[in-house]
Amino acid sequence: MSIYSEIGHEKLTEILTLFYNRLFEDPFVGFLFAAFNKEDLLRKQILFTGRLLGAAELKYEGKGLREAHFPHPIRSAHFGRRQVILRGVLEELSIPENLISEWLALELSLKPFVVKGLADCSE
Ligand code: HEM
Repeated sequence: MSIYSEIGHEKLTEILTLFYNRLFEDPFVGFLFAAFNKEDLLRKQILFTGRLLGAAELKYEGKGLREAHFPHPIRSAHFGRRQVILRGVLEELSIPENLISEWLALELSLKPFVVKGLADCSE
């Protein structure tokens, strides 16, 4: 059973809505989102993350991850902060620990497509 089928679409939407509210307000990563429309990013994030968590029926038609992130000064620490915020939201909404660690590991595997230069520096 996939994470998506375990939590369902409604819960995913609730999680990502809270998550995006936190990201936009966060003192460490909020500046990276300042120029963007929250509703637009949230809509794409629900489709992207839904697929990542196993929803074959959802269709994500946004940019590829590299194309979306490499133009921005996103560093390893920003990625780490995103994971901390996501874990906080998942714990707050009582998602079971086994699903949280699986979800965070899936996102961590995407880090090289979000943070530039990981192959040639040791940050
Ligand atoms: C595994 C981690 C991540 C995933 C799965 C992810 C996913 C996405 C997706 C699906 C989009 C929409 C792309 C589009 O506009 O078509 C996006 C855009 C964006 N993400 Fe992420 N993201 C991740 C990490 C991060 C991090 C760590 C930051 C900064 C702290 C970040 C900041 C942004 C920004 C600023 C945009 C807008 C880019 C643009 O339109 O120019 N993302 N992300």
